Parts: sequence; C-alpha cells; structure tokens
Amino acid sequence: MKAVVLVGGFGTRLRPLTWTTPKQMLPIVDRPMIERVVGALGRHGVTDAVLSLGYRPDAFIDAYPDGRCAGVELHYAVEPEPLDTAGAVRFAATSAGIADTFIVVNGDVLTDLDVTALWDFHHEKGAEGTIALTPVDDPSRYGVVPIDDKGRVTAFVEKPPPGTAPTNWINAGTYVLEPSVVERIPGGRKVSIERETFPAMVGEGTLYALHSDAYWVDAGTPNTYVEVQLDLIDGVRGGGELAVHPSAAIAPSAVVDHSVVMAGVTIGEHSVIRDSIVLPGARLDPRVLVDGSVIGPEARIGEGAVLSGMTVIGARYEVRAGAHLDGARLPEEG
Ligand code: GDD
Ligand code: MG
Repeated sequence: MKAVVLVGGFGTRLRPLTWTTPKQMLPIVDRPMIERVVGALGRHGVTDAVLSLGYRPDAFIDAYPDGRCAGVELHYAVEPEPLDTAGAVRFAATSAGIADTFIVVNGDVLTDLDVTALWDFHHEKGAEGTIALTPVDDPSRYGVVPIDDKGRVTAFVEKPPPGTAPTNWINAGTYVLEPSVVERIPGGRKVSIERETFPAMVGEGTLYALHSDAYWVDAGTPNTYVEVQLDLIDGVRGGGELAVHPSAAIAPSAVVDHSVVMAGVTIGEHSVIRDSIVLPGARLDPRVLVDGSVIGPEARIGEGAVLSGMTVIGARYEVRAGAHLDGARLPEEG
C-alpha cells in the first residue's frame, strides 16, 4: 500500500515555530510529528510513503538519511513551487509512479483513524475517492462534508463562514483515491483538492465518505499543537507518555504542571510551567511563569518573565527579564 503524505505547506498558523522548522518536523512530545503520522499509516499496511515536499524539504530529507521513517520506506517529491493540495497529489503520485489505489493524508493530523476500514469501504462502494470524516464543534475551520444514506458525498464546502455549515462532520484529511483522480488534476498550476477536485467529483457522484469517531486532531495551530501533546501525556489515547524528558534539568523549587518539557531544557528556581510545551534546549531563568504557551527550541526566557494566553516563542529567541507577554508571537518575522 502506498500513501502520499502532504507536508509542503508553510505552516503559517504555527509561526514563529515554523520560521525555522516545517510544521510536520516539529516535535510532538518526543519525536517529530511526521513519525507519528507515517507510523500510524504503517500500522495499517502502508509500506511506502511519498512525502509531498515544498517548504524546507531538507529538514525531512536530512532527518531520515536512510530513507526509512517509523518502519515505512520514504520517497521524496519536492515541488518546484507550491502546487496546493491537489497539485501536490498529482506531482507526488506521478513522480512516484503510483498506478493503483492509494492513500493521501494531510501530514499535520494526529489520529487513531481506522485506515483499513476506510480502504475496505472504498472498495465496497466502488468509489473513485473516499474521505474519512470526523465530528468537530466548529466546522468553519475545515472542509465540511454532508453525505446521503449510502455514504455518497452530496457537497464539499471548504471553510464555510461560521454558522453556515450544513453538518459538523468534516474532512479528516485522509483519503483513499483511484489513480483516475490524478488524471482529473490539471498540471502546471495550483489546484486545491478541497475547492476544485472534490467538488467536481461530487457533481459526478463518484466521491464517498465514512464517519469515524476515532481520536482526531489537526495539530496545525498553536492551540491544537498544545492540545494534542497534553492528550498524549494525559493518556487520552491510551498509555500516557512521559511529560518531562529525563535530560531536562528542573530546579527543585520549580513546578511543572500538566506540561511537556523536552530534551535538554533547563528550568530555574521557583519557575512555574503550566499547560504548556517547552521545546528542546530552551532555558528558563528563575521565577519565570509560563501558562498555556509554547517555548521554541533553544529559546531563553529571562528572570521573572510572565508568558500567558498562548504566547509562542520561536527558536533561539530571547525574552528579556521581567517581560509580560500575553498572546504574543515572537519573533514576528523569520
Ligand atoms: N506539498 C504541498 N504543497 N503540501 C501542501 C501545500 C502545497 O502547496 N499546501 C498545503 N500543504 C499541506 C500542509 O503542509 C498540510 O500537511 C496539508 O497539506 C493540509 O494543509 P493545511 O494548511 O494544514 O490545511 P487546513 O488544515 O487548513 O485544511 C485541510 O485539513 C483539514 C483537516 O485537518 C483541508 O483538507 C480541510 O478540508 C480539512 O478539514
Ligand atoms: Mg491543517
């Protein structure tokens, strides 16, 4: 089984972290996001994953020099320019020579979705494409997908204005596609699978979808990047993962409460870290308060600084002593 994994976006909503690291190479507790995404595919029989790359492709290629990731063989398709989601599928599937039914996933989704069940449903229906659907509270951030009682998709509405979505079941970012879908996608320009390819398939009645209530989070925003990691340490998806890396140096009087502290982090006396993520090598001086925020790799937080309201600090950035930051994103430019 082959899969195309879309990982070429700029990750704008996760700036400043993505100024230096592409979204799917950001760590999720103890390993890059991509390893969790590809590992989940491997558990459903995917042997080969084509990474559809655009922004900072070297970060992926350098991380897996032997071309294997989580037990799956990697192939790389580097776009000369961003081709958007369908253009990326066409480019990756063509360059990897995909000629049979294949899987596509958005590389920023962490899920326990049953890909095997989706694959089987696709074949039972004789579909040209099949989308996994997940329920969300606010569908306006996603692709909204109503279906009929046979599982046929009746509309595909990407990011509808708040309050207008016909259902709260949304595109979970996992598809089973026939090679004929690739032939539909025009070459040489940007094409959105959500705005162009899927709506055309709806019109012809060849697109199906399957509801799933499995764990699902798109980790592409600061809030969800935090949420997905706190879920892992809380054991929401089964066995809780280790919240504090053994190599972190935490002063005896410091408090780490419901937070992920990654490798090589230093936390000074009387500092408090709550509902937050601290990436590898960050250094927090004494009496710092970090509440509901993200500290980037090797950042330095000066004594007595207070960070709250989903403040996100980029790699190696220095926050001066005594600063009060609420909802800040620093640096503002990469
Ligand atoms: N190669 C390549 N080239 N990859 C791209 C490009 C591109 O031009 N643009 C985006 N991607 C990748 C991103 O890196 C990401 O992994 C994936 O495609 C989806 O892009 P996002 O930017 O994360 O989209 P979204 O989260 O706003 O919406 C998408 O995902 C939702 C589910 O998480 C849509 O597919 C929605 O319909 C869906 O509900
Ligand atoms: Mg996303």
